[in-house]
Amino acid sequence: MNYFIKIFVFLFLFGSLLSCEYETIKPLKVEVESASFATDVYPLFSTCSTCHNGSHIFDSRDLTKAYTSLTLPANGLVVPPLTENNLMKMISDKHQGTANYSATDIAKIEKWIADGYQNN
Ligand code: HEC
Repeated sequence: MNYFIKIFVFLFLFGSLLSCEYETIKPLKVEVESASFATDVYPLFSTCSTCHNGSHIFDSRDLTKAYTSLTLPANGLVVPPLTENNLMKMISDKHQGTANYSATDIAKIEKWIADGYQNN
């Protein structure tokens, strides 16, 4: 009986090792079909207005202020020429609450920018 348990445990452990060896990890690629500023992007800024309350270039106090501050060409946050502290750079640096963004959240922001940062 004991012998069978040992064989079973051995096969189980050996089997797990083998399965690990042949597994390949696929990179996580999230694609979104469309992104709206009001329903997809702006809700991701719900925690930002603690600081971005009018005293910074990016102002997230309401939908209009957030849209205007992001897309004003002189601010360089999403409209080129981008500044060093542009939105995607801040996100990739995991600035404040952006550290919690999922791959889908980031894909939505990227899609909104790629589609011409519409007020949609
Ligand atoms: C605890 C305060 C705080 C919070 C919360 C915060 N930020 Fe910031 N943010 C700053 C400061 C301070 C700067 C100035 C640049 C720096 O020092 O990093 C800044 C700069 C920025 C900039 C560059 C433009 C500018 O206004 O200076 C962007 C874009 C930005 N933050 C986005 C966000 C987003 C998006 C969120 C919410 C997910 C957020 N921040 C939350 C403090 C904060």
